[in-house]
Amino acid sequence: MSNYHIKHLEEYWQVYRKSVRNPENFWEEIAEEHFLWRKKWDKVLSWDFKKPEVKWFEGAQLNITENCIDRHLATRGDKTAILFEPNDPDEGAQHITYNQLHKRVSTMANVLKEQGVAKGDRVCIYLPMIPELAIAVLACARIGAVHSVVFAGFSATALATRINDCDCKIIICSDGSYRGTKTIDLKSIVDEALDQCPGISTSLVVKRTGGTVSMKAGRDKWLAPLLETANSACKATIMDAEDPLFILYTSGSTGKPKGMVHTTAGYMVYSAYSFKNVFQYREEDVYWCTADIGWITGHSYIVYGPLCNGATTLMFEGVPSYPDFSRFWEIVEKHKVTQFYTAPTAIRALAKENLDYVEKHDLSSLKVLGTVGEPINEEAWHWYNDHVGKKNSPIVDTWWQTETGGIMISPIPYSTPTIPTFATLPLPGIQPTLMDENAQEIKGNQVEGRLCIKFPWPSIARTIYGNHDRYRDTYFSAYQDMYFTGDGARRDAVGYYRITGRVDDVIIVSGHNLGTAPIEDAINEHPAVAESAIVGFPHDIKGNALYGYITLKQTGEARNQDNLRKEINQLITDRIGPIAKLDKIQFTVGLPKTRSGKIMRRILRKIASKDTSNLGDTSTLLNPEVVQEIIDQALI
Ligand code: PRX
Repeated sequence: MSNYHIKHLEEYWQVYRKSVRNPENFWEEIAEEHFLWRKKWDKVLSWDFKKPEVKWFEGAQLNITENCIDRHLATRGDKTAILFEPNDPDEGAQHITYNQLHKRVSTMANVLKEQGVAKGDRVCIYLPMIPELAIAVLACARIGAVHSVVFAGFSATALATRINDCDCKIIICSDGSYRGTKTIDLKSIVDEALDQCPGISTSLVVKRTGGTVSMKAGRDKWLAPLLETANSACKATIMDAEDPLFILYTSGSTGKPKGMVHTTAGYMVYSAYSFKNVFQYREEDVYWCTADIGWITGHSYIVYGPLCNGATTLMFEGVPSYPDFSRFWEIVEKHKVTQFYTAPTAIRALAKENLDYVEKHDLSSLKVLGTVGEPINEEAWHWYNDHVGKKNSPIVDTWWQTETGGIMISPIPYSTPTIPTFATLPLPGIQPTLMDENAQEIKGNQVEGRLCIKFPWPSIARTIYGNHDRYRDTYFSAYQDMYFTGDGARRDAVGYYRITGRVDDVIIVSGHNLGTAPIEDAINEHPAVAESAIVGFPHDIKGNALYGYITLKQTGEARNQDNLRKEINQLITDRIGPIAKLDKIQFTVGLPKTRSGKIMRRILRKIASKDTSNLGDTSTLLNPEVVQEIIDQALI
C-alpha cells in the first residue's frame, strides 16, 4: 500500500483511516519519501487552534524550488516542465524543459538579488499568464523572497492596496497583456498604482505586447537586458519549514482583503500530495489547469503541485472564446491533454455554445476532468461529463479555499464513485465536520450545517499578513478548536459532502470571491449615493451575479439614472476591477433595516432571487414600508 498514490477505494479508506489515527506519522512518512530536505524536522506538528498557531515539520530546512526543479534534472532534464500556449494560436506553443526552467528561474533570481531583494522581502507580481509569471514566482522562492501575486485583472487601487498592505519593495509587471482580441495596457495601471505606493523602489517590466509605455527613470527597468547579463546559476537559499513562501489576497466579508500567508514545507507537501492523488498524475501526462496564477488554484495546481511531481503543466494565456469557442478543446487535442481542470462558470459558458465546437475535436487523451471555485450545477456537470469526458473521464469536484492551500474534499478519480454536485470525501489528513447554530457538532449522516475542519493539515494558511487577530476572529472564533470555512454543506447518507455555498457576505461570481463590503464602500464614494447594499442572485453562467440596492442623496435624485448606473460601475471597476461590476442596480427609497440599524440582507437577497413568497416577519423592521416598494420596483 502506498500512502502517496491511492489507486482504489479500499486503499483510500485504509489510507484515510491511518491519516486520522496518526496524522503526524502519516505526513512524516510522505514527507520522508517524496521530497528533498536539506535538514529533517525535529517535530512533525505542533498546533493550537486557540492562539491560533500551526507548525509543520519544525526544524526542517529546504528550498521548494529544489523540489520543483533541481531534483528532476537528472531524470527529467529534457522533459517539458511548462508548456505555454499563447493567446494567439499562430504564435505557437513554447516548451520549457526542466533544464531550461532551472536556468531561467536562476537567472531571474539573480536579477532580483541584484535589485536588492533579500530573503523575507515581499515582491509583488502583476503579470499576465505568460511563462515569466511562473518563473518570477519560482525565482522569489529560490532566494526566499515572499511573492505576492496580484491577478492582473485587478484595478490600480486594488493593486496599490495589496502592495502597501504587505509592504512590497519591488514589483514585476509587464507592458501589457493579450486577452482574446483585446490588448490591455497593464503598465499604465501599474503606474497609477505606484503613485500610491511609496515603498516600491523598483519595477521590473517584462515586454509582452510591445506597446508604448512610460518608464519612470530610476524606478522602471526592462527585465530582458537585466536577464541577459545576469548569471544563470543561483544557489537556492535554504529556508526553514515555517518561513513564509507567499502571500495571496482573498476577499473578506468586511474590510480590506486578507493577505493569507502560506509557509514553505507544509504547503509543499500538501500541494504535491493532493495534486498526485486528485489528478491521478502519471509521468507521461500533460496536465492543464485553466486558472490564472493570480489565484490560489494557479499557485497550487499550475506551479507548485505539478512541478513538485515533475509534471508537464500547461499555462494558457488566452480566453476560452478566442479565436472561437473551440479554443479549449483545440488545445486539448493539440497537446493531448490528460487532465483538464477548470471552473463551473467556464463550463456553463461553453455549454451554451454550439456542440460542434467540442465535437469536432479529438478529446480521447483526457483521463480526468476537474472543477473548482464554486458549486457546479447538475446541468453543467452532465454537459461536462457527456460531451467533454464522453462519460469516460471521472469528474473531480474539488472543494477548497485560498486559506486551505490545497484541495480538501474531492473524489479520487477511478476510486471514489462520483455523484453530480458532490465534492464527496475528504482527502487523507482532512477531518471535516458540520456544526449547528448552537455550535454543536452534527453527528451522523443526511445532515446539513456549517463546514469546519477539526484538525490541522500541512497547507493551512498560518496567519493574515499583519493581522493575526483578524485571522483568529475570522476562522477560529465561531467554533471552539475548529477552523471555520465560511461555507455551508450537506452530508448525505453515505457521508459524501455537498457544498451548499457561502454562509457569510462573500459572493462567488464566476468563481471569484467578492466581499460585499468593499464593493459597497466603492459605491458609497459616489457623491450622489447615500447608502447601498449588495446581494447575489442566481445567474446562468456566472453562478451568481451582483444586485445592488442603492439609495440616493437628495442631490442625486434629479440625476439621469442610466448615467448614474454607469458611473457607479466605473467606480467599482476603478476601485476593485471589472469582475465586481453590478449586473443590476435598483435605486430605492430606503433599505430595510432592523431596529438596531442593520441592513436586512436576507430580504434583499430574496427579492433579487425572485423569491418573495416568504419574506418572514418584516413587521419588526425599522421601516417595513420600504419592502413593498422595493418589491414593486425590483428589476426582475
Ligand atoms: O465557497 C467555496 C467556493 O470557493 C470558496 C473559496 O474561494 P477561493 O478562496 O477564491 O478559492 C477558490 C479556489 C480554491 C469556498 O469557500 N468553492 C471552492 N470550490 C468549491 C466551492 N464551492 C463549491 N464547490 C466547490 N468545488
